[in-house]
Amino acid sequence: MKGKTLVPSSELIQDAVARGYAVGAFNAVNMEAAQAIFAAAERENSPLIIQVTQTTMSYTEPEELAAVIHTLAERTTIPVALHLDHGRSFRVIMRFLKMGFTSVMIDGSLQEDGKTPRSYEENVAVTKQVIEAARSLGVSVEAEIGRLGQIGEDEDVSLTDLDEAAKFVEDVKFDGQGVDILAVAIGTKHGLFKGKPIIRSDRVKELSDSLGLPLVMHGGTGVPDEDVRKSIKAGIRKVNIDTQIRVAFYGAIRDVVMQHEEDYAKADAAGEPRKYDIRKLLAPGRDAMTETIAEKMRLFGCAGKA
Ligand code: G3H
Ligand code: ZN
Repeated sequence: MKGKTLVPSSELIQDAVARGYAVGAFNAVNMEAAQAIFAAAERENSPLIIQVTQTTMSYTEPEELAAVIHTLAERTTIPVALHLDHGRSFRVIMRFLKMGFTSVMIDGSLQEDGKTPRSYEENVAVTKQVIEAARSLGVSVEAEIGRLGQIGEDEDVSLTDLDEAAKFVEDVKFDGQGVDILAVAIGTKHGLFKGKPIIRSDRVKELSDSLGLPLVMHGGTGVPDEDVRKSIKAGIRKVNIDTQIRVAFYGAIRDVVMQHEEDYAKADAAGEPRKYDIRKLLAPGRDAMTETIAEKMRLFGCAGKA
């Protein structure tokens, strides 16, 4: 089932390290989002990490979405990695590895419910287990240390600590092999921020210097462009974008629905039957997602690097 063009994300990240940019990692929740992500990457000639979150399982069977992505990947010439975003257990990671994912994130910072914190020891144990399994398949591994959140707003935010991160990177090694990329808490959060966020690119720099590992910015939506640039300069080599894609989709569809309501009112008044063509909603939604993703690729510096 593995698409012939899929590569491990570490291959893409290595180029980003060498040339000082970040690879955009975009979440696909349905076929239209996946198509938009590929369309943007092709248009911008950008390497691509397309990712699926384990919570997608509450909406669709991930195998169905993976099949769509494999088909898109087989038709493209740009380098693509298929990544599991926020895998929360070994069992889930195994399911996605069977689908031909070439990269996985084990998010050991939280338990399977996605809310309750895991202890440091639990995070180390599950991350190590995943490294053991993924490495034998040539699959890249992303792990997380620290707890994401908006500084001054979220109570449980815990910025990634330098000493703890250094210990973590050593403790999770299996047979001398460790994580390829590390997700860090630097003041970003998932979803939209309240007001202007405080992004600690200085912490990115410290972590990058002391760990010598490529770092991941989660919660890329709403981070001011200037902070994104500073963070990439400081060592961020993968930026995750999810909410912003859905915002674009929602905005475009809302506009079309409102226009359709006016057209329907006229049709009703003229005694004409309404036409319910949902493709006329989805296509503008898909185009809006493509535009948003392409803009982010230019910001991250991955545009033109394929
Ligand atoms: O793992 C996914 C991301 O961290 C996306 O965050 O929804 O704030 O863009 P976002
Ligand atoms: Zn995330």
